Amino acid sequence: MTGTPNPWLSIPAADYEAHMASRAVAQAQLLSGILRESVERWEPVSVAVLGCSAGNGFEHLRGHFLGRVVAVDINPEYIETTRERYTGSVPGLETICADIAAVELEPGSIDLVSCALVIEYVDAETVVSKAARWLRPGGVLSVVLQLPSEGLDEVTPTEYESLRLLEGFMRLVDPGALDLLAGRLGLETATDRAIRMETGKEFRLVEYRRPLSA
Ligand SMILES: C[S@@+](CC[C@H](N)C(=O)[O-])C[C@H]1O[C@@H](n2cnc3c(N)ncnc32)[C@H](O)[C@@H]1O
Repeated sequence: MTGTPNPWLSIPAADYEAHMASRAVAQAQLLSGILRESVERWEPVSVAVLGCSAGNGFEHLRGHFLGRVVAVDINPEYIETTRERYTGSVPGLETICADIAAVELEPGSIDLVSCALVIEYVDAETVVSKAARWLRPGGVLSVVLQLPSEGLDEVTPTEYESLRLLEGFMRLVDPGALDLLAGRLGLETATDRAIRMETGKEFRLVEYRRPLSA
Protein backbone atom coordinates (compact mmCIF):
# COMPACT_ATOMS: atom_id res chain seq x y z
CA MET A 1 0.00 0.00 0.00
CA THR A 2 3.05 2.28 -0.23
CA GLY A 3 4.24 4.26 -3.23
CA THR A 4 1.03 4.40 -5.26
CA PRO A 5 -1.47 7.10 -4.32
CA ASN A 6 -4.59 5.99 -2.47
CA PRO A 7 -7.31 5.50 -5.16
CA TRP A 8 -9.88 7.20 -2.91
CA LEU A 9 -8.08 10.47 -3.67
CA SER A 10 -9.10 10.11 -7.33
CA ILE A 11 -12.81 9.43 -6.84
CA PRO A 12 -14.89 12.64 -7.03
CA ALA A 13 -17.57 13.05 -4.35
CA ALA A 14 -20.26 13.30 -7.03
CA ASP A 15 -19.21 9.94 -8.53
CA TYR A 16 -18.99 8.27 -5.12
CA GLU A 17 -22.40 9.49 -3.98
CA ALA A 18 -24.14 8.67 -7.28
CA HIS A 19 -22.55 5.20 -7.36
CA MET A 20 -23.51 4.41 -3.75
CA ALA A 21 -27.08 5.70 -4.20
CA SER A 22 -27.64 3.95 -7.56
CA ARG A 23 -30.20 1.13 -7.73
CA ALA A 24 -27.49 -1.38 -8.55
CA VAL A 25 -25.58 -0.53 -5.35
CA ALA A 26 -28.08 1.04 -2.88
CA GLN A 27 -25.47 1.18 -0.12
CA ALA A 28 -25.74 4.91 0.68
CA GLN A 29 -29.20 4.30 2.13
CA LEU A 30 -28.04 1.18 3.98
CA LEU A 31 -25.08 2.88 5.66
CA SER A 32 -27.04 6.02 6.48
CA GLY A 33 -29.71 3.92 8.20
CA ILE A 34 -27.06 2.00 10.14
CA LEU A 35 -25.53 5.22 11.49
CA ARG A 36 -28.99 6.39 12.57
CA GLU A 37 -29.69 3.04 14.23
CA SER A 38 -26.42 3.07 16.21
CA VAL A 39 -26.95 6.65 17.41
CA GLU A 40 -30.52 5.87 18.49
CA ARG A 41 -29.48 2.64 20.22
CA TRP A 42 -26.46 3.94 22.14
CA GLU A 43 -27.33 7.64 22.59
CA PRO A 44 -23.67 8.72 22.44
CA VAL A 45 -22.43 12.15 23.45
CA SER A 46 -19.23 11.85 21.42
CA VAL A 47 -19.01 10.15 18.01
CA ALA A 48 -16.14 9.47 15.61
CA VAL A 49 -17.02 8.53 12.03
CA LEU A 50 -14.01 6.98 10.30
CA GLY A 51 -14.11 7.09 6.51
CA CYS A 52 -17.07 9.49 6.68
CA SER A 53 -17.21 10.09 2.89
CA ALA A 54 -19.10 13.35 2.20
CA GLY A 55 -21.11 12.97 5.42
CA ASN A 56 -23.43 10.13 4.45
CA GLY A 57 -25.98 9.71 7.24
CA PHE A 58 -24.92 12.85 9.12
CA GLU A 59 -28.46 14.22 8.81
CA HIS A 60 -29.35 11.69 11.54
CA LEU A 61 -26.87 13.32 13.92
CA ARG A 62 -28.92 16.52 13.99
CA GLY A 63 -31.21 16.92 16.96
CA HIS A 64 -29.28 14.55 19.22
CA PHE A 65 -27.59 15.66 22.42
CA LEU A 66 -24.15 15.35 20.91
CA GLY A 67 -21.17 17.22 22.30
CA ARG A 68 -18.61 16.16 19.71
CA VAL A 69 -18.67 14.56 16.26
CA VAL A 70 -15.26 13.79 14.74
CA ALA A 71 -15.44 13.10 11.00
CA VAL A 72 -12.34 11.59 9.40
CA ASP A 73 -11.65 10.95 5.74
CA ILE A 74 -8.58 10.82 3.53
CA ASN A 75 -10.25 12.62 0.61
CA PRO A 76 -10.14 16.45 0.95
CA GLU A 77 -13.22 17.00 -1.23
CA TYR A 78 -15.30 14.61 0.89
CA ILE A 79 -14.19 16.31 4.11
CA GLU A 80 -14.82 19.80 2.73
CA THR A 81 -18.30 18.73 1.60
CA THR A 82 -19.03 17.26 5.03
CA ARG A 83 -17.89 20.51 6.65
CA GLU A 84 -20.00 22.67 4.31
CA ARG A 85 -23.10 20.54 4.68
CA TYR A 86 -23.11 20.00 8.43
CA THR A 87 -21.20 22.76 10.26
CA GLY A 88 -23.72 24.48 12.50
CA SER A 89 -26.36 21.74 12.23
CA VAL A 90 -24.41 18.77 13.60
CA PRO A 91 -23.34 19.69 17.13
CA GLY A 92 -19.61 19.82 17.84
CA LEU A 93 -18.55 18.82 14.32
CA GLU A 94 -14.77 18.49 13.85
CA THR A 95 -13.51 17.47 10.42
CA ILE A 96 -10.13 15.81 9.95
CA CYS A 97 -8.70 15.18 6.50
CA ALA A 98 -6.10 12.46 7.06
CA ASP A 99 -5.28 8.80 6.74
CA ILE A 100 -6.95 7.20 9.77
CA ALA A 101 -3.63 5.51 10.53
CA ALA A 102 -2.19 8.96 11.29
CA VAL A 103 -5.07 10.23 13.45
CA GLU A 104 -4.75 10.36 17.22
CA LEU A 105 -7.70 11.11 19.50
CA GLU A 106 -7.57 11.16 23.30
CA PRO A 107 -7.80 7.63 24.70
CA GLY A 108 -11.13 6.88 26.37
CA SER A 109 -12.85 9.93 24.91
CA ILE A 110 -15.43 8.58 22.43
CA ASP A 111 -18.81 6.89 23.01
CA LEU A 112 -19.41 5.62 19.46
CA VAL A 113 -16.89 4.94 16.71
CA SER A 114 -18.45 4.18 13.34
CA CYS A 115 -16.40 2.29 10.78
CA ALA A 116 -18.71 1.39 7.91
CA LEU A 117 -17.12 -0.25 4.85
CA VAL A 118 -13.77 1.26 5.68
CA ILE A 119 -11.51 -1.42 7.09
CA GLU A 120 -11.60 -3.09 3.67
CA TYR A 121 -9.26 -0.24 2.58
CA VAL A 122 -6.91 0.12 5.54
CA ASP A 123 -4.77 -1.99 7.81
CA ALA A 124 -7.59 -3.42 9.94
CA GLU A 125 -5.42 -4.12 12.97
CA THR A 126 -4.09 -0.54 13.08
CA VAL A 127 -7.50 1.08 12.74
CA VAL A 128 -9.45 -1.25 15.04
CA SER A 129 -6.72 -0.93 17.71
CA LYS A 130 -6.96 2.86 17.54
CA ALA A 131 -10.75 2.81 17.66
CA ALA A 132 -10.69 0.48 20.68
CA ARG A 133 -8.27 2.81 22.48
CA TRP A 134 -10.48 5.85 21.80
CA LEU A 135 -13.59 4.24 23.34
CA ARG A 136 -14.79 5.24 26.78
CA PRO A 137 -15.80 2.39 29.12
CA GLY A 138 -19.22 1.35 27.81
CA GLY A 139 -18.41 2.86 24.40
CA VAL A 140 -19.20 1.06 21.15
CA LEU A 141 -17.31 0.38 17.92
CA SER A 142 -19.76 -0.19 15.06
CA VAL A 143 -18.29 -1.98 12.05
CA VAL A 144 -19.93 -2.76 8.71
CA LEU A 145 -18.09 -5.39 6.72
CA GLN A 146 -18.76 -6.48 3.18
CA LEU A 147 -19.02 -10.27 3.00
CA PRO A 148 -18.14 -12.40 -0.04
CA SER A 149 -21.11 -12.66 -2.40
CA GLU A 150 -20.74 -15.49 -4.87
CA GLY A 151 -20.93 -14.46 -8.51
CA LEU A 152 -20.94 -10.71 -7.73
CA ASP A 153 -18.10 -8.23 -8.21
CA GLU A 154 -16.66 -6.84 -4.98
CA VAL A 155 -17.11 -3.34 -6.44
CA THR A 156 -20.42 -3.32 -8.31
CA PRO A 157 -19.91 -1.94 -11.84
CA THR A 158 -21.86 1.27 -12.51
CA GLU A 159 -21.55 4.10 -15.02
CA TYR A 160 -19.23 5.89 -12.54
CA GLU A 161 -15.93 4.72 -13.94
CA SER A 162 -13.73 6.26 -11.23
CA LEU A 163 -15.00 3.65 -8.75
CA ARG A 164 -13.19 1.00 -10.78
CA LEU A 165 -9.97 2.31 -9.24
CA LEU A 166 -10.97 0.38 -6.13
CA GLU A 167 -10.82 -2.97 -7.89
CA GLY A 168 -7.82 -4.84 -6.53
CA PHE A 169 -7.41 -2.28 -3.73
CA MET A 170 -10.38 -3.36 -1.65
CA ARG A 171 -9.73 -6.44 0.51
CA LEU A 172 -12.57 -8.26 2.23
CA VAL A 173 -11.94 -8.72 5.95
CA ASP A 174 -12.53 -12.11 7.57
CA PRO A 175 -15.31 -11.70 10.19
CA GLY A 176 -13.79 -14.34 12.49
CA ALA A 177 -10.40 -12.61 12.39
CA LEU A 178 -12.11 -9.32 13.25
CA ASP A 179 -13.84 -10.93 16.26
CA LEU A 180 -10.51 -12.32 17.47
CA LEU A 181 -8.87 -8.92 17.09
CA ALA A 182 -11.70 -7.17 18.95
CA GLY A 183 -11.53 -9.78 21.72
CA ARG A 184 -7.76 -9.31 22.07
CA LEU A 185 -8.39 -5.58 22.45
CA GLY A 186 -10.80 -6.24 25.32
CA LEU A 187 -14.03 -5.56 23.39
CA GLU A 188 -17.19 -7.65 23.71
CA THR A 189 -19.72 -8.30 20.94
CA ALA A 190 -22.89 -6.34 21.73
CA THR A 191 -24.88 -6.86 18.51
CA ASP A 192 -24.20 -8.90 15.40
CA ARG A 193 -26.40 -8.97 12.29
CA ALA A 194 -26.13 -10.26 8.75
CA ILE A 195 -27.65 -8.08 6.04
CA ARG A 196 -28.58 -9.37 2.61
CA MET A 197 -29.47 -6.72 0.07
CA GLU A 198 -31.89 -7.18 -2.82
CA THR A 199 -28.83 -6.72 -5.02
CA GLY A 200 -27.50 -10.00 -3.59
CA LYS A 201 -24.64 -8.31 -1.73
CA GLU A 202 -24.13 -9.40 1.85
CA PHE A 203 -22.84 -7.41 4.80
CA ARG A 204 -22.26 -7.84 8.51
CA LEU A 205 -23.06 -5.15 11.06
CA VAL A 206 -21.24 -5.87 14.29
CA GLU A 207 -21.07 -3.62 17.34
CA TYR A 208 -18.28 -4.25 19.87
CA ARG A 209 -18.52 -2.72 23.32
CA ARG A 210 -15.78 -1.74 25.75
CA PRO A 211 -16.88 -3.18 29.10
CA LEU A 212 -17.77 -0.66 31.80
CA SER A 213 -15.11 -2.13 34.08
CA ALA A 214 -11.99 -3.85 32.77
C1 LIG B 1 -16.85 2.77 1.08
S1 LIG B 1 -16.56 4.36 1.69
C2 LIG B 1 -17.28 4.35 3.31
C3 LIG B 1 -18.66 4.66 3.36
C4 LIG B 1 -19.10 5.71 4.35
N1 LIG B 1 -19.02 5.22 5.70
C5 LIG B 1 -20.50 6.05 3.90
O1 LIG B 1 -21.45 5.80 4.64
O2 LIG B 1 -20.62 6.55 2.78
C6 LIG B 1 -14.90 4.35 2.29
C7 LIG B 1 -14.50 5.72 2.81
O3 LIG B 1 -13.29 5.58 3.54
C8 LIG B 1 -12.38 6.60 3.12
N2 LIG B 1 -11.04 6.07 3.32
C9 LIG B 1 -10.47 5.03 2.67
N3 LIG B 1 -9.24 4.80 3.15
C10 LIG B 1 -9.02 5.72 4.13
C11 LIG B 1 -7.94 6.00 5.01
N4 LIG B 1 -6.82 5.29 4.95
N5 LIG B 1 -8.06 7.01 5.89
C12 LIG B 1 -9.20 7.76 5.93
N6 LIG B 1 -10.27 7.54 5.13
C13 LIG B 1 -10.18 6.53 4.25
C14 LIG B 1 -12.73 6.86 1.66
O4 LIG B 1 -12.28 8.12 1.21
C15 LIG B 1 -14.25 6.72 1.69
O5 LIG B 1 -14.88 7.92 2.00
